[in-house]
Formats: sequence, structure tokens, C-alpha cells
Amino acid sequence: MSHLWLPFTQMRHFDEQARSFVRGRGTMLEDARGRSVYDAVSSIWTTIHGHCHPRIVEAIARQAATLDHATLLGATNPVAEELAERLCAIAGMDRAFFASDGASAVEAAIKMALQYWQNAGQPHRTRFVRLSGAYHGDTIGAMSLSDIAVFKSRFGSVTFETQGYDATVPLGEDVAAVILEPLVQAAAGMRLVPKEAYERLKGVEALIVCDEIATGFGRTGTMFAFEQIGVSPDIVCVGKGLTGGTMALSATLVGQSLYDVFLGAPDAFVHFFHGHSYAGNPIACAAALASLSLFEEEGTLERAQGIARRSRAHLESLRAHPLVHDLRQAGTMLGIELRKNLGPSSADALYDAGHFTRAIGDVIQFVPPLCSSDEEVDAFFESLSTVLVLSAVEG
Ligand SMILES: Cc1ncc(COP(=O)(O)O)c(C=O)c1O
Repeated sequence: MSHLWLPFTQMRHFDEQARSFVRGRGTMLEDARGRSVYDAVSSIWTTIHGHCHPRIVEAIARQAATLDHATLLGATNPVAEELAERLCAIAGMDRAFFASDGASAVEAAIKMALQYWQNAGQPHRTRFVRLSGAYHGDTIGAMSLSDIAVFKSRFGSVTFETQGYDATVPLGEDVAAVILEPLVQAAAGMRLVPKEAYERLKGVEALIVCDEIATGFGRTGTMFAFEQIGVSPDIVCVGKGLTGGTMALSATLVGQSLYDVFLGAPDAFVHFFHGHSYAGNPIACAAALASLSLFEEEGTLERAQGIARRSRAHLESLRAHPLVHDLRQAGTMLGIELRKNLGPSSADALYDAGHFTRAIGDVIQFVPPLCSSDEEVDAFFESLSTVLVLSAVEG
């Protein structure tokens, strides 16, 4: 009997034998029964270059033998320094504040925005604005910025109130920051956000936070999705694919003018009052550096664009299917919304056919590793078509 308690899982109905992954290689995961399945959800949007990529494995091993960990509280290390520089260069930002999971990067962004306005002499700016259907993580602050009832309604007594974004209403003087998921709201079932929704945010005084935790690192065809929406963020949160999907590492990136407001004498107490034990862990940073290099060495963005094109053609062929309710795509983030409560059973049937994905309600996700071959993309959609044919016959 296992002692594990899994996230977002009803343990009474969980069969440990059915889903236990023991090995990963490239796009494939091997389960405890010796079956290899295609990781069609990139282990919840984290895996970029495939599992156990030798280049990242080697970087992790080398770093683990050199400097495993050293705190970033009042100290630095060359690996975190180099990663901060590379990340800022690709995101067009100036400073990187490291944490571990995505939600921790969002918590840092919330507190940065609040303290920024205090330091800048506008302490009345305390309100946060978010999109409808938003999801930013499961910690209290990130949950407060979210707008999906099933994730947050039980915890209303500890979350703070946030305001839904309305493009037709000017932002109030009390708004500290607007947080956005650029292009696509993944946890809402790959819900697409029309680009016009962001139009009104140009030139506003409130800070703009782009949550790139799901969309960053090539998922939507560009390194970051905000590049496609014409918004210049003040803060960018990254996580998930930052290490290529190998280690927990996230970062909150900011521009110089925001950072400067935190500078002063030590006893002025304007420095950022926030931090975590494993911030900027050198092993995780080494993994991230190797992952960023692989983008250049393996042409990852071009491969992502190729996967997106091939997937779009498959998606179109599903459009007229009677069991398909809606189809959504932002690059390599695809949601196939089915009718008749077919989500979870279809995901199970896909597993039996050799493809691992999860359903969000009735939305089957296809978020493939960015090293997937044409044949793997084709095979996923062929299996999905077969699953739908069988569902139609049974239904
Ligand atoms: C847009 C977005 N923000 C934040 C998070 C939270 O990241 P993590 O699960 O690493 O805490 C997620 C997770 O799915 C996400 O999709």
C-alpha cells in the first residue's frame, strides 16, 4: 500500500498499478507494467526536449558534483547569475527573481507589485485585476488571482478579492497590477483569449504581469506568448518548461525601472521582503541553461511551429465530428472539447492505445513535447479518431 497522496486525485479510485511511471526517454514514458506511452501532455506542460535528454542529464550531474546548493539570501552563484542573464536577454527584461514552482513565481509577482507601489509612494494601489477563467496556481495568492470555481470556491475564507478584467472599463486608481495569461488559458481547457482583449492595456499605469508559466518556452510557437499579443509586460512569471521539464524552478522577471524602486540604504527597508530556501538552486539553474542551449542546437522553436501546423491539419479533420463540441489551438497547446461527458473515459482509452494525456472536464489536451515527430503527432490523432468512433458506436 502506497503512502503517497496525489494532487487533484481521488485516491479511493486510484489504481496504483495502472499509472506508475518508472522511466522516461524522449517523448515516451514507461509504466511499471512495462508499457511505453507517448507523453501527449508533456507531463502537464513541462517537458520540452523530451524526457532524460542526455544534454540536460549531463548538465545536472556535472552541477550536482560541483555545487549542489547555496542560498541566494545575500549570496550569489555563477550558475544562477548566468541563467538570470540569459533569461532576461530572451524575455527583454533586466532582473530575475528565482523560486521553485510556478505558483511561487506568481506569489512573488503579487508581493513585488504591492511593495513596488509602497516604495513608489502610491500605497493605495492594492487591487489586482485578472481575466475571467484565469488560473495562476494553487497557493493562496495565486488562487486569489484565479477564477475557476472548482479550484478556489472551497477556500474563499482565505483568498482575497480580485477584479475581473473588463476591456470596456478604465482601470481604477487603486489597481496595483493586471495579471494575464497571454493567448491561451490552459487550465480553463485551452481557452483562447482574443488578442483584442489586451488592446486597452497599452500605456496603463498599473503593472502588467504576464503569466508565461504554461505558455513560455516555445509552447505557442514563439519563445513567449506575450510576443504575439502586443503587450509589454512589467513582470513576467516563468516556470514549468524553464528547466526543459526536469527540475522545479521558476522565475519572476522584471524591468530595470521596477527593480530600481527597491534600491536604497539597508535600513530604509525598501528591499524585496520575500524569498524561498531553494531559490536559484544551482542544479536546477544548470538544467535550465542546458535547456535554453537546446533551443538553439535543436531548432526547438521551428520544431514547435512544425508540430503546430501538423496538429492544425488533424484538428480540422475532426471539426465535423458529431462528438466534438469545440476545437482550440494556440501553437502546440490544443484542446479538443468533446460532448456527452466523454473527457475522462476518452483519456483512459487513449492511454490503452499508447498515449498519455489528461482531460480537463470534457477537454482532451494535446500538448506534446516539442521534439515530437510527425509520426507521433499523426498516431495520437489516429488513436483519438478511433476512440471517437468507438464512443459513437457505444453511445
Ligand atoms: C498559467 C499558469 N500559472 C501558474 C501555474 C502554477 O504552476 P505550478 O503548478 O508550477 O505551481 C500554472 C499551472 O498549471 C499555470 O498553468
